[in-house]
Amino acid sequence: MMHSLRTARLLPRLAVSARCLSSSPDYMNYETWHRDNYQQHGSQPLNSHHAINGNHPPSIQDKQTELPRTSVLMELSDRVGALHDVLKYYWKYDVNITRIESRPVTSNKFDFFVDFHGRVGDANVNALLMALKGMTDKLLVLDEKEVHWFPRHISELDLIANRTLDAGTDLQSDHPGFNDVEYRNRRALLAEQAMKYRMGMELPSTEYSEDEVKTWGVVWDKMEGLLEKYACKEYKKSMNLMKKHCGYSRHQIPQLSTISSFLQLQTSFRLRPVAGLISSRDFLNGLAFRTFFCTQYIRHPSMPLYTPEPDICHELLGHVPMFADRDFCDFSQEIGLASLGASDEDILKLARCYWHSVEFGLCREDGVNKAYGAGLLSSFGELEYACKPRSDDEVPSIGSDGHPTCPQIKPWDPNVAAMQDFPITTYQPVYFLAESLQDAKVKMRKYCEELPRPFFALYNAQMESVHIDRPVRRCVGVPDSSS
Ligand SMILES: *[C@@H]1O[C@H](CO)[C@@H](O)[C@H](O)[C@H]1NC(C)=O
Ligand SMILES: *[C@@H]1O[C@H](CO)[C@@H](O)[C@H](O)[C@H]1NC(C)=O
Ligand SMILES: [Fe+2]
Repeated sequence: MMHSLRTARLLPRLAVSARCLSSSPDYMNYETWHRDNYQQHGSQPLNSHHAINGNHPPSIQDKQTELPRTSVLMELSDRVGALHDVLKYYWKYDVNITRIESRPVTSNKFDFFVDFHGRVGDANVNALLMALKGMTDKLLVLDEKEVHWFPRHISELDLIANRTLDAGTDLQSDHPGFNDVEYRNRRALLAEQAMKYRMGMELPSTEYSEDEVKTWGVVWDKMEGLLEKYACKEYKKSMNLMKKHCGYSRHQIPQLSTISSFLQLQTSFRLRPVAGLISSRDFLNGLAFRTFFCTQYIRHPSMPLYTPEPDICHELLGHVPMFADRDFCDFSQEIGLASLGASDEDILKLARCYWHSVEFGLCREDGVNKAYGAGLLSSFGELEYACKPRSDDEVPSIGSDGHPTCPQIKPWDPNVAAMQDFPITTYQPVYFLAESLQDAKVKMRKYCEELPRPFFALYNAQMESVHIDRPVRRCVGVPDSSS
């Protein structure tokens, strides 16, 4: 029966007979196989010949990345060789399949969803459909899936970088810098610099004032000893690299350009300036391109150990060293790829997973809890609160400072983290503890694979673009400037 499906050479996950399928509720996913295979062997993704000239405006890139695709649904009766008999016509008419998925309909019928290059009206596609008509119980040409807009090429991150939630400069009245005109002018200047940035430009360098460097130094001094004690080993290793190659020290605020060039060599991650907070969707979409939206302003000098929003201390001390670790980069990109075109509901789930890992994640190290989340690694109070050793039977209660005396720690499970709400202005009541960074990554990947995504996306590092496995129309939330 294995023999009956000679498609096995191309589609190993389909190497089980269709009969086996009927006892399994799982659909088989070609792209999942394809991605695993691609990552293991470093081969090119199928049909990835989407030549992109980085100098063209995005609208032209779109046309080239989005080669016409067609999706069909074929219903087949389960019999030995049924799929093979059908697929051979794709080869006969030189129609390249980009995705194939199957789902049992009844005990002896299967639906196959097949995506391929070309469109109805092309001579070879028409010939194929004619041939298939007689061979299938049902044959439907499906409409293009309509999805939320997402960047297809790294240059399209330019279109979302300006979509800051608070214009980057409208400080809330309880912000420590609210009444400080000089501080607000400084913020406005850095915001403008970030907004003007376009893909391919040199990263803007920032001359920090004496006061700003002083604030940085205060944070640095506070964190140094605690990081030694509570940061995970990957962080500490990278921090040494940062000191050696990126000018990290208490005496200066390192430049994004130096850091980004270093990261690109190390893990092909990069930084790009952003004026302030952007939506979860836009932020996560950046990670799909191994790109981290990074602020440059620093917290207000009156409260050097507090910031109500991400600032350069949080980015450079919390996030950046972790991006020198390849596993961690892959982990972050995994969430990013899953966020492309995702429903609002799934974005919320992914944002929670991101929060409970990239921002506040803990991992086990020789039986001790260490931090790998940037929110912890850049917050002296919370780092100790989350990591300090405690007895197993200690139960959380509210202390005199209004914080719980100790947090609840749950094993890292993205299914649970995806449903776990979180506060943004207080210490976290719940942290998630992974066995290791590797464990965090494996579980996250599995979660992303099981998420009912509108398509699967692969990043092509050479083209700096994403390859997706089925035809979609990006029609919701299209950025103003892309029309
Ligand atoms: C199918 O893919 C092959 C190999 O990439 C390519 O040479 C061929 O032109 C493609 N055919 C069509 C019809 O796109
Ligand atoms: C973003 O905003 C800046 C400043 O307002 C502007 O110069 C730039 O063209 C904008 N970028 C895009 C892609 O719209
Ligand atoms: Fe952050």
